[in-house]
Order: sequence, then C-alpha cells, then structure tokens
Amino acid sequence: MEVVILPTAEQGGKLVADIIASALRTPGTIGLATGSSPLLAYRELIRRHREEGLSFSGAQAFLLDEYVGLPFGHEQSYRQVIRRELTDHVDIDPAAVHSPDGSGDDPLSAAEAYEKALVAAGPVRVQVLGIGANGHVGFNEPGSSLSSTTRIKTLTEQTRQDNARFFSSAEEVPRHVITQGLGTIRRAEHLVLTAVGEHKAAAVAAAVEGPLSASCPASILQWHQHATVVIDDAAAAQLHRADYYRYTFEHKLTGQGF
Ligand code: F6R
Repeated sequence: MEVVILPTAEQGGKLVADIIASALRTPGTIGLATGSSPLLAYRELIRRHREEGLSFSGAQAFLLDEYVGLPFGHEQSYRQVIRRELTDHVDIDPAAVHSPDGSGDDPLSAAEAYEKALVAAGPVRVQVLGIGANGHVGFNEPGSSLSSTTRIKTLTEQTRQDNARFFSSAEEVPRHVITQGLGTIRRAEHLVLTAVGEHKAAAVAAAVEGPLSASCPASILQWHQHATVVIDDAAAAQLHRADYYRYTFEHKLTGQGF
C-alpha cells in the first residue's frame, strides 16, 4: 500500500485524476465513488476532457452503491449524483454508467444482478473509494464480511447523520442501501482511496495502520496487492508513519508510477 500525503486537497484531486486518466488510455472498466471526497478529482477530469482531450469513450463505469427506496431520478440517488458531478460532463456513453437499482420493489434481486453485471464487465481497473468516519468503504459498515459481495446493508445512524447534509432532514436519508461488498471491491486491480479533512483522520489511521478487521472495513486495503491512499495533511494527522510516507513519496524512483 502506498500512502501519499499532500498539503492540499486540490493536489490530491489532481493525483487521483492522473491515476484515473491513465486507466482510461485503453478501453476498460473504472469504479466510481460518490460523496464529497472524489469531487476535486472529478472536476479535474472534466477539465482535462474539455481542455486536453481526455476521452471516456471506451470506458464502462460502475458505482459502488445506491440508496434503497429513493424514487428513480431522485436528485440524491447516486445514479443522479454521478451524472451531475462527472459523467454528464464527459464523453462516456450514458448506457455505460452503471449503478445498482435501489428504486424498484425487489432490491435483493437488484443487488444480485449488479454483482453479475460487474463480473461480466471484467476487472475494474481502478476503483475510487472514499472512507466514512466509521471506516466504511462503499456502504460496508463496520462488521461487514471481508468476503461480502453486492447486497443490501443497513446504514448506521452515524452514516445517516453524516449524509443528512445532502437531504433536507436526517429523517429523509434512507435506512438501506445496495453496496458492492468488500470481496467485490477487492477484485478491482487498483484501489485508490481518497480522504480530506481532520474528521477523517481517525478512520484513515485505523484503515492504514490498525489491524485488518471487519471493524474497520477500509482496512481491506492492507490486504490488496495494489492500493493507494491519497490524503491531505489534515486527514493524515493521526498516522504514526506519516514521516516515512512523505519520505517515500519524495524519493520515488523514476518510472515507479502509482
Ligand atoms: C459513496 C460511498 C461512501 C463514501 C463515504 C465518504 O459512494 O461509497 O463510502 O465514499 O461515505 O463520503 P464523503 O466523501 O462524502 O465524506
């Protein structure tokens, strides 16, 4: 696992955009997260599409998760969020942007169908991840099986409160979600987790330096052959080996890449 600590969130967004842009050079599947953490990276990708000709035309995109029970087209459904924040602004085929269907009356079957669609699409080249303050990735809340596949999960009250900022009240945040499992996420070839701000520092420290444990779902990064954590100084504040991570980044060999 490589931990890259950068002074600003903007620098982190550029680095995450670099990694995604390099995966887009050949046709393939990319995995997208919603939420605030990847927004600067998505803005940078849109800029590169407009100004530098970066193309998404050969890409399939799969979202990590979706709320259960929001009507189709709800502005806070992740299907709509990713369109608004990224895919409507680049040249990806709208039919190539996939998300679990949480709006129907059979979310259990929708979860199974999504897992199958992911398997059929082939390996996810780069999976973008945020991290919840409680260590969740996707919506795999603490206690999630390390081998889980796409399924229904019940959000913790903390996550519902954290996401209430996107709704007019906390009560409106759905209780259930369809999320890729930790086993699903682990199949991606490259995991790129990004976090900014002091409120993520404890979760980042548990994920990177704590035990590999279902109690901190993001700790699965430690078990992955290719994981990159891109964080700002504030999110790195509780890392014991922060100096070593900075030193390693400053002394990367030419061609070592990400
Ligand atoms: C979103 C997702 C979640 C978020 C996490 C952090 O698709 O899967 O795991 O990445 O809740 O959210 P933000 O980035 O809003 O702090």
